[in-house]
Amino acid sequence: MNMARVLGLCTLLLILTVSLMAWLLSYALDHYTLPPAHDGPPHPLGDVAPYPGDKMDNLWWFIHISDIHISRFRDPQRTTDFNKFCIENIDVVKPELVLATGDLTDAKTLDNLGSRQYEVEWQAYKNALDHAHVTEKTIWIDVRGNHDAFGVPSADHKLNYYRKYSVLGESGDHTFRYQHKLPFGTYSFVSVYAVLNPGPRRPFNFFGILYESELQKLEEFSKETRHSNHTVFFGHYPTSTIIAPHTRLSNALKNGISYLCGHLHSFGGLVPNMNAVHKNGLLELELEDWKQNRMYRVMAFDHDLLSFVDVKFGTWPVILITNPKRARFMSPSHEPLQKMRHSTHIRFLVYSPSAILSATVEVDGKPLGSAKHVKGPLYVIPWDPSKYSSGLHVIEVTAKDAAGHTHMEGYRFSLDGSRPAQWLMSAMFLMTDIPFVFWVITVGSVSVFVLALLSLRWIAKKNNVRYRTSIIRSLCGLVCSETYFYWLLIIGVYPLVGPWFVCMVTCEHFGMYTLYGFMLRGEIIGETFSYVICALNMALFQGPITLYFALQLDRIQQHLPHQSSSVYSKSANGKSKAKNGNASKPLQHHIQPLGFVWSLIAYPCLLSAMLWMIWECINLYYCYGAVALLFSPKSAWTLAVVIWLLYRLHWIELRQASKANGYKS
Ligand SMILES: *[C@@H]1O[C@H](CO)[C@@H](O)[C@H](O)[C@H]1NC(C)=O
Ligand SMILES: *[C@@H]1O[C@H](CO)[C@@H](O)[C@H](O)[C@H]1NC(C)=O
Repeated sequence: MNMARVLGLCTLLLILTVSLMAWLLSYALDHYTLPPAHDGPPHPLGDVAPYPGDKMDNLWWFIHISDIHISRFRDPQRTTDFNKFCIENIDVVKPELVLATGDLTDAKTLDNLGSRQYEVEWQAYKNALDHAHVTEKTIWIDVRGNHDAFGVPSADHKLNYYRKYSVLGESGDHTFRYQHKLPFGTYSFVSVYAVLNPGPRRPFNFFGILYESELQKLEEFSKETRHSNHTVFFGHYPTSTIIAPHTRLSNALKNGISYLCGHLHSFGGLVPNMNAVHKNGLLELELEDWKQNRMYRVMAFDHDLLSFVDVKFGTWPVILITNPKRARFMSPSHEPLQKMRHSTHIRFLVYSPSAILSATVEVDGKPLGSAKHVKGPLYVIPWDPSKYSSGLHVIEVTAKDAAGHTHMEGYRFSLDGSRPAQWLMSAMFLMTDIPFVFWVITVGSVSVFVLALLSLRWIAKKNNVRYRTSIIRSLCGLVCSETYFYWLLIIGVYPLVGPWFVCMVTCEHFGMYTLYGFMLRGEIIGETFSYVICALNMALFQGPITLYFALQLDRIQQHLPHQSSSVYSKSANGKSKAKNGNASKPLQHHIQPLGFVWSLIAYPCLLSAMLWMIWECINLYYCYGAVALLFSPKSAWTLAVVIWLLYRLHWIELRQASKANGYKS
């Protein structure tokens, strides 16, 4: 009867959970993968000449590079390759401008954990540019990233080597606008400046903050540049990693066709093409790093249609198809997409240091033939767009150069506005407010933890029930044991309320770190990488260590001859004897070790918790120094408390329990 009710309840809960998960999943899939609908009129210039044809007109291109990470300690090839890039690739591609979106230098110490600005890294950066004379060949626009701000006390401090060694210097160290004027149009580039000022050392300098003054400037520029043919925003941080009023930010950015950024690299290879179209039509194009992947991006405006291709350094020939453009990245509110329907030629750019021997085109698997070279990198081949007027089609271009390299580039295009589904992972990374999600996880998991402990304690104290399931019984045992209960509660809640450590934040600022950022004298740096740490802390430390204490305590208490005030006392007295199968047999002197299955749970829990805390302490020591480690309630002190609790459990309680059993016998 009772059993049936419990089973019924469980089934109901299961069904509810599964339906909730299914709903969440389908919502997430729709939210992230459906290409946003365009509900405005078509672009006013879509049906107005000129149209893409066989002339070198209304076409220009530029390069985007990000996360160069020039380092004095690691991977000298990185700098060598960058030197070569500045010479060879710039000479071959001849971009009108180059955007370098931050993390120009690595600024990490030899141990790879600490961080500080090294002037030699900046000198190497400047030398590469000077040696190649890039500023004479192109317009080089470089901005700061978080690595370029590690340990910089303020933007105008002498440690801000960016101002001394970058091309833009002081004029690039805030939100600014650059207008590229060409005979056929004006193209605006607006920086989104979210660098922390003062800049703490790593790891607590990961998210960007868009300060009010910079946001206002951005909004102003966004309004002013509305009459350019196109506005391109760029900055170091993806919008998902910028702490800002998000409605205002997205309203400011929606006047541009795209936002170019770096910072997340390819997330350790997990998300190689981190590009997505936002709900408001903005294309957010994150570029993989130069640091390890040696990627750069060639982008072109052809008759105001934006195309781009991400290229690995050393790949030749580079092929960039500009008409028809890729269906995935169409922006109906900003681009005159109709022009593709009126176009007479397929157009693409081919770059190589050696002569191009052949360039052939296939559409939907059918060869169209060899393309004709027009001028510079432009190749064209006549086509009849009306043949492809509906649905998605595939275009593939293959080029061969005199050095024997062959390369193929292809994608899907459409002339009726059809678009494929977005890439789920890319969209998730770029369209989620990451600090907010981690805040929810952190606050949620701490609340669940505290509520669970409190309610278990209340239940356990109230009902003198005997629990069969070991986990519940163990947890009830834990919450009834005053010492462990209070200490685990304190350790769990502390990161939300107290300072984590005190330290020299930069060489000039003394301050303390809390969940809500750095508190300096008179100012707060609201960097919230703490949410990420705190969420991991709950999963890898707090949960496991609580479970470990519960299981071990249970093991001891199971063997105690009598225990007042506890729920398991009865079971300890009654059941353990019954289990021994012989009531008259004296209790053992030694407490049994954990059963095999429980060991498989308990010891990995202990290992995870200890490794995490030790890792945290090591990190703190290398990142912020011995003082920070010494005055770190969140790390070193917590570790000390846990070690003391472990000592108490294993040496004191266990011995007492053994003795108690011994007396009884
Ligand atoms: C740029 O905009 C002007 C004015 O709106 C327009 O006449 C011109 O054709 C545009 N340029 C291109 C390449 O479409
Ligand atoms: C219980 O104890 C008795 C007498 O001490 C002994 O003969 C018997 O074998 C024991 N039974 C078990 C199951 O240990």
